[in-house]
Amino acid sequence: MGATGGTGQAVRELAPAVGHEVVALVRDPAVTRLPGARVTHGDARDPEALARALAGIDAVVSCLGVRLGQQPGTVRSAGTAALVAAMTASGVRRLVSVSTVGVGESVAAQSRTARLLWPLLVGAERLAEAERAEAAVRGSDLDWTIVRPPRLVDGPDTPVTVGVDVATGLRSQLSRAALARTLLDLLDTGAHRRGCVTVTRG
Ligand SMILES: NC(=O)c1ccc[n+]([C@@H]2O[C@H](COP(=O)([O-])OP(=O)(O)OC[C@H]3O[C@@H](n4cnc5c(N)ncnc54)[C@H](OP(=O)(O)O)[C@@H]3O)[C@@H](O)[C@H]2O)c1
Repeated sequence: MGATGGTGQAVRELAPAVGHEVVALVRDPAVTRLPGARVTHGDARDPEALARALAGIDAVVSCLGVRLGQQPGTVRSAGTAALVAAMTASGVRRLVSVSTVGVGESVAAQSRTARLLWPLLVGAERLAEAERAEAAVRGSDLDWTIVRPPRLVDGPDTPVTVGVDVATGLRSQLSRAALARTLLDLLDTGAHRRGCVTVTRG
């Protein structure tokens, strides 16, 4: 999910090298090929498209999101709820889902400045959408891990710090390449099952 976005692209680039075959759910019908993945078409909120995409797969990495500068709307929460329902129905159990710092327990580990300014920078509604998407995942019986990064940047893979109480500030950032590696590590190791972790540049 979200395979055409920045993090999704990084996941596609890395996944085959660590032994995965990738199916990408893509909403733009004009995109018929993506490096590193087999393309299947449909909207993230469409149960039939999700069922088609889930056929024959073992696990889902969701990098679904609304690009910065666009109205948050309800795509993230509705798409995540639809994904959870489709995975539950199809018996695909493992889900690694990208969220954001500034949600849930990660707020308490933010610096005072970040606690005040992150909602203004990101947008309160965007954070509320991420909160609703997390609730859909946490309320499921799936084998889930929620991953909360700070500001994402392009650039090379770097060491990371992953944990429940990892402190973040306004300057915290993470490359999408490092996030992609962390998502695949979590997928492969099964670490932090039914848990939420923050991941930052280490
Ligand atoms: N940017 C940051 O600094 C930051 C910080 C913390 C957390 N995050 C979160 O990290 C995740 C990845 O961020 P990113 O910047 O790498 O992602 P991104 O570039 O914004 O990509 C979002 C992806 O979601 C897809 N998508 C959106 N609506 C869809 C729909 N209705 N049906 C199917 N696919 C849909 C987009 O497809 P299209 O190509 O068709 O648009 C795209 O592939 C997001 O959840 C984001 O909120 C971002």
